[in-house]
Amino acid sequence: MGSVSTSCVVAVTTLLLLLLALGASGQLQVGFYSKSCPSAESTVASVVRGFSDSDSAILPALLRLQFHDCFVRGCDASVLIKGGNNNAEVDNAKHQGLRGLDVIDSAKAQLESQCPGVVSCADIVVLAARDAVAFTGGASFDVPTGRRDGKVSNMRDGDVLPDVHDSAQVLRSKFAASGLDDKDLVLLSSAHTVGTTACFFMQDRLYKYPLPGGGLGSDPSIPAGFLAELKSRCAPGDFNTRVPLDRGSERLFDTSILRNIRNGYAVIASDAALYNDTSTVDVVDSYSGLLSTIFGPYFRQDFAESMVKMGSIGVVTGTNGEVRKLCGKFN
Ligand code: HEM
Repeated sequence: MGSVSTSCVVAVTTLLLLLLALGASGQLQVGFYSKSCPSAESTVASVVRGFSDSDSAILPALLRLQFHDCFVRGCDASVLIKGGNNNAEVDNAKHQGLRGLDVIDSAKAQLESQCPGVVSCADIVVLAARDAVAFTGGASFDVPTGRRDGKVSNMRDGDVLPDVHDSAQVLRSKFAASGLDDKDLVLLSSAHTVGTTACFFMQDRLYKYPLPGGGLGSDPSIPAGFLAELKSRCAPGDFNTRVPLDRGSERLFDTSILRNIRNGYAVIASDAALYNDTSTVDVVDSYSGLLSTIFGPYFRQDFAESMVKMGSIGVVTGTNGEVRKLCGKFN
């Protein structure tokens, strides 16, 4: 009898611990706010739409913002914590040129008045990126929500972000460290189908590329005509002029970026690198070949799947973290 009641206590305790653990960890789910804040997703969409009506360049910026949030400490809105004193994550140079934080702040302000303390900044980032994809012509897709906001923001944490000069092998290993495979790397880099880069990120490729015979020059893999075009847009020392990442199709979410990469028309070095490694070449080819639109894997849908995957990196859920009142400040 004694041993029966002991095993009962053990079983009940184990069950309680399990329930506590589940409560603390929670899970992402599509429509997480359907009861607690039914207007959450439509409010984010209307704020994104409002901003993009006056500046359509905000859409690519919002897509990039999810990448920069999720790769550093997971999708926990750590990148939104206000910087300025070289101690916040956003102060890291790897986040250079990041924009769209005001869009997230604006959506947050509206949601705080509709449902105070309910919708996390981390979810707003992911919803806004999802809307940015749809509003530029990509797929409309469901994203699971239920993230909470992290309580840590360190400048040095941003060091883990991929660099524009990383080789395909380094890019692959940085993605793998976040649970993303070669297919995700190519698909997510295809986000460069929209938006622009500052000439800052091309200076080395155009003027300081280490040449095989010694000395510095231009990346020899760039076709001559395209090199002249890029040089005419980005003079030596010009850091600020912006150039489309997807030559000829920077406003539309399509596979043109992959054809450009395939044909040597990648604008930044990290995109060009994807055609220098057999495993990523195969993925690029599978989405950009002549018949890929008919027989190939379905780019728009696969991109959406990779976004959902990226959106689940290191999420804070359940009773962990917090729901910030202001996205730029811990509670
Ligand atoms: C593979 C590693 C990646 C590298 C090295 C990289 C690098 C860059 C660089 C240097 C820029 C130009 C930034 C500027 O001048 O404002 C940029 C822009 C952009 N990136 Fe990436 N990126 C990578 C992956 C991604 C991923 C995974 C996404 C999203 C899924 C993404 C989305 C974007 C978008 C949409 C822009 C245009 C931003 C704008 O127009 O404001 N990138 N990226």
